[in-house]
Amino acid sequence: MITFTVENKVFHLQAKNSSYLIEIAPTGHLIHLYWGKKLPQTADYRRLLSAELRKKHLQSETANNFKLDNIPQEYPAYGNSDFRQPAFEVRLADGSSLSNLKYQSHKIASGKDKLTGLPALYVEDKKAATSLKIKLYDQKAELEVELSYTVFKEFDVIARSAVLTNKGQQKIVLERAFSAAVDFIDANYELITSAGDWSRENHLVRRSLQPGLQAVESTRGASSAQHNPFLVLARPEATEEQGEVYGFNLVYSGNFFAGVQVNSFEQARVLMGINQFDFSWQLKASESFQTPELVMTYSGKGLSKLSQTYHKLYRKHLMRGKYKEQVRPILLNNWEATYFDFDEARILEIAKAGSELGVELFVLDDGWFGSRNDDTTSLGDWFVDREKLPAGLASLAEKVNNLGLKFGLWFEPEMVSPESQLYQKHPDWCIHIPGRNRTLARSQLILDLSRPEVRAKIMEMLTTILESVKISYIKWDMNRNMTEIGSAKLDSDQQRELPHRYLLGLYEMLEELQQSFPEILFESCASGGGRFDPAMLYYMPQSWTSDNTDAGSRLKIQTGTSLFYPLVAMGAHVSAVPNHQVGRSTSLITRGDTAYFGNFGYELDLRKLTQTEKELVKKQISFYKQERTLIQTGDFYRLLSPFADQLDTAWLVVNENKTAAVAAFYKVLAEANQPGRYLKLAGLDPQKYYKVNLINQLKTEVKLYPETAVYSGVELMSVGIVLPEKIVNLLPDGSESRGDFQSLVWKITAVTANT
Ligand code: GLA
Repeated sequence: MITFTVENKVFHLQAKNSSYLIEIAPTGHLIHLYWGKKLPQTADYRRLLSAELRKKHLQSETANNFKLDNIPQEYPAYGNSDFRQPAFEVRLADGSSLSNLKYQSHKIASGKDKLTGLPALYVEDKKAATSLKIKLYDQKAELEVELSYTVFKEFDVIARSAVLTNKGQQKIVLERAFSAAVDFIDANYELITSAGDWSRENHLVRRSLQPGLQAVESTRGASSAQHNPFLVLARPEATEEQGEVYGFNLVYSGNFFAGVQVNSFEQARVLMGINQFDFSWQLKASESFQTPELVMTYSGKGLSKLSQTYHKLYRKHLMRGKYKEQVRPILLNNWEATYFDFDEARILEIAKAGSELGVELFVLDDGWFGSRNDDTTSLGDWFVDREKLPAGLASLAEKVNNLGLKFGLWFEPEMVSPESQLYQKHPDWCIHIPGRNRTLARSQLILDLSRPEVRAKIMEMLTTILESVKISYIKWDMNRNMTEIGSAKLDSDQQRELPHRYLLGLYEMLEELQQSFPEILFESCASGGGRFDPAMLYYMPQSWTSDNTDAGSRLKIQTGTSLFYPLVAMGAHVSAVPNHQVGRSTSLITRGDTAYFGNFGYELDLRKLTQTEKELVKKQISFYKQERTLIQTGDFYRLLSPFADQLDTAWLVVNENKTAAVAAFYKVLAEANQPGRYLKLAGLDPQKYYKVNLINQLKTEVKLYPETAVYSGVELMSVGIVLPEKIVNLLPDGSESRGDFQSLVWKITAVTANT
């Protein structure tokens, strides 16, 4: 998968259907030659960098007009004739910042090494990937940079990271250490990023590249709900089904930078890594700094293929543990049912209602510990509130288990409320700057996880509970961002290391928990999707997608999140109406139909449902149980986008051998007099024939999809399913659900006879 041709000094990295080419220039600089559709091994690909450029600018460093400004490079340095943004930046003991990295050596080996202290893609079988490590060296600075590239056999993926090591005696300060830079020879691309906020996560934005720098970032200490650490470069003509697209996703949960710079030669440089904002790192003699990993994907077949690659890759080579290959339990969470107002009896009644309808896991959310009756107290006091739960947690868990349900619990371990025993005892354990105000957000502060004693205390409290209570699931929440960033323990010249050291501390805790409690299913959360990133998925294979559970809002949020993250990772719950976040009422059918395309659950007081609604919930649960292997592991297609003018949305999941699929159509705003249109499907086998069954009952005068009819894959993909003129769903008691936000779900099954 990776070759090096000695004569022309070119590395050829071959992924499944793509190639990535690197050259060691005569000057020793590492040049980027190509990334895209797979090329044969044989040719001398030095020709991909124009001979004029080579001759004019790249002959010798001492020649007049030696210039790197229009030369595509692998890890561009600061202070030379390349005036674009560099991939890294140092401050040396003499005050200078110039770097000049030259090729030193390389190593090609099968498999993939771990990254020290950081989550990353992994392989179980060494044959699944090949890695290339290239050592570059700056002699004057005595700085070594080792670039890592891993190519996966079954995927069009290249994972990149870098390790910067101080080989000298003098201190080196890293002012910037991105994970990678990727130069493109032209800038005829559009940039897709996510934008949003709390309850509006991952709204997709697509714009053409313009000269200059365009970037998204986080400066909040978490990967953030405002921008997810991903970006896509898409050819202007690229769509879901066709065209060249390049994806970049950073395996990191903290401050990040994701940018593209277009220079005066209309070349594009993608830069991604830890944000330079509030970052610097001291490298003393022999010390190294490991950057997070950047997962890069090429698709020659549009965005659907790009997403499918990420989804499968993350399920196979990022998620770990018992639940990696298992379907996930359908859960019921009490948060929107009770908020802080509950006692054991109420919890058990809600759990019982869930168990009767087919739920598998009950999750007790916030409010069970310390004396937390609202969000102003008790974070850090991780022991049960005996006023609410006099018999304790172990007893509650047992009672929930006796209802036939697993028991799960909410924690927010990274935080402390000033009104808590922990804070009273250790007021300096939070992130703060002495003499400055400690800004409260949701009445809480962040614990300084860079300090081992802080981590140890929290782990001790968690472990006590996990060892004494039968807990099958943990919701690990994190509900505020960093301000007044300072640590009582770090030296003054290391204060800007805190945001990253915090993450290293957090990852260490999560790793220890994974190892000590392998049976527990972890779900991450950060006021919804405020830290929904690949690094979290490495420790916790699912994540709460958004606090906004409104079906209408979820069409956008789940569509955006699905660009990089698999459905199995996306917590999606049916909640009550009017919806608590937006106040909108959508039908129970639509709420279910939307939540199906994720990791399904409920977040409401099931006792309050009418008999008809309960029957519907039972049907939903049994449908999801039947289809969840397909939904959680199939190939996902966004057929219609809620970000388009029309708003209508359609999703589809197809299993690997294309024998079964589940499709859905969501009519956002009802219209009158709109004769039936077609919904084109995708991903089916054109040679196969399929039955098409509507899941919910529809009020139409004629049967739209007679049970006996079969449709060829070609018909379904080139023409489509006929949509009804008006969607009027029938509820089990015969009443009608009509108007805005109506939906349809189909099960599509291959049949053997070509009728
Ligand atoms: C956050 C989470 C919610 C819920 C509350 C509890 O907002 O995103 O799902 O757990 O905290 O306080």
